[in-house]
Amino acid sequence: MNMNLSLLVVIFLCFASPSLSVRCNPKDKKVLLQIKEDLGNPYHLASWDPNTDCCYWYVVKCDRKTNRINALTVFQANISGQIPAAVGDLPYLETLQFHHITNLTGTIQPAIAKLTNLKMLRLSFTNLTGPIPEFLSQLKNLTLLQLNYNQLTGTIPSSLSQLPNLLAIQLDRNKLTGTIPESFGKFQGPNIPDLYLSHNSLTGKVPTSLGDLNFSRLDFSRNKLEGDASFLFGKNKTSQIIDLSRNSLEFDISKSEFAESLISLDLNHNRIFGSLPQGLKDVPLQFINVSYNRLCGQIPQGGTLQRFDVYSYLHNKCLCGSPLPDCK
Ligand SMILES: *[C@@H]1O[C@H](CO)[C@@H](O)[C@H](O)[C@H]1NC(C)=O
Ligand SMILES: *[C@@H]1O[C@H](CO)[C@@H](O)[C@H](O)[C@H]1NC(C)=O
Ligand SMILES: *[C@@H]1O[C@H](CO)[C@@H](O)[C@H](O)[C@H]1NC(C)=O
Ligand SMILES: *[C@@H]1O[C@H](CO)[C@@H](O)[C@H](O)[C@H]1NC(C)=O
Ligand SMILES: *[C@@H]1O[C@H](CO)[C@@H](O)[C@H](O)[C@H]1NC(C)=O
Ligand SMILES: *[C@@H]1O[C@H](CO)[C@@H](O)[C@H](O)[C@H]1NC(C)=O
Ligand SMILES: *[C@@H]1O[C@H](CO)[C@@H](O)[C@H](O)[C@H]1NC(C)=O
Repeated sequence: MNMNLSLLVVIFLCFASPSLSVRCNPKDKKVLLQIKEDLGNPYHLASWDPNTDCCYWYVVKCDRKTNRINALTVFQANISGQIPAAVGDLPYLETLQFHHITNLTGTIQPAIAKLTNLKMLRLSFTNLTGPIPEFLSQLKNLTLLQLNYNQLTGTIPSSLSQLPNLLAIQLDRNKLTGTIPESFGKFQGPNIPDLYLSHNSLTGKVPTSLGDLNFSRLDFSRNKLEGDASFLFGKNKTSQIIDLSRNSLEFDISKSEFAESLISLDLNHNRIFGSLPQGLKDVPLQFINVSYNRLCGQIPQGGTLQRFDVYSYLHNKCLCGSPLPDCK
């Protein structure tokens, strides 16, 4: 009788305990409390009370099945210091974000290399310095790599092209130097990621290999790129947004063809020459800016190009026709 009763109690506890007990994994709780301490016990993490269930703490999430911490998303916090190494001890993390934190400094934490389940790494609008580490190419599940608005230096690791699941690489607004890797024309995943590399100090030619892929969005604006980039255009491509503005690109645009999917084309402030190709007037563009180049000849008439005002076309060599003054 007694035996049976205790067996019943054991059985009851086995089935009922998941809902009665706390969800939080004690290992994760320990790591989170370490992170809080390393960040100087900021007010932002005041809800991280050791006496409560960490699955209900602010800016973290637990996986429904495993109850392990799978997201840490710190946003607009008054936090000073570096990303704690302890973040590497949350092995189930799929999302790691430190976003809009002015006083977050130091390099990209090397312990992030251990987070092989990461899908989204977002360290942006912070003051991180140092290079973009090679180890990121080992985080094969990454779909979003967002490191924009920092002070990152050095070159772009060509190994990033080994990430098969990327949807977007956002490295814009840093202090990156060197060239765009040749390997960025060889992404092998099912998706070709959008590339946001603007507002850096990238130099040299855009690798022609990039012409082999169907990128939807390319933003290389405000770098120091030179030479030809016309291979980025093409009738058979699926481009939607191409921004090459404020570089030193130099090529003849006369023979270029443009995809029907293209909605925004910004080429302002380069050294592009030739005339605008007739085919451009049939592209359903919502934005175009070819100002401050060396274009000549008549703007193709009777299509989309007259939807825009003179500010899309000003400061060229001898571009003419509506909306600019008539050709002589
Ligand atoms: C950042 O650090 C500066 C200087 O230590 C401090 O004045 C400021 O309040 C800190 N926090 C934010 C959010 O700017
Ligand atoms: C940020 O925190 C520091 C130290 O706790 C404090 O002195 C400062 O006023 C805070 N800044 C803002 C913008 O809240
Ligand atoms: C980086 O720090 C500087 C100086 O403290 C600050 O002016 C700037 O806004 C910070 N950048 C970001 C993205 O928070
Ligand atoms: C990536 O995701 C898949 C499926 O979601 C998972 O099985 C795998 O363990 C994850 N990690 C790595 C390193 O591939
Ligand atoms: C575009 O694709 C069509 C059909 O697939 C092909 O015939 C044509 O040669 C291609 N044009 C270019 C410029 O690649
Ligand atoms: C780009 O996509 C179009 C339309 O899906 C396709 O016809 C073309 O072959 C693709 N080009 C490349 C280089 O993959
Ligand atoms: C095109 O770029 C030039 C130069 O940056 C700028 O002055 C102009 O306002 C832009 N036009 C449009 C329509 O954005």
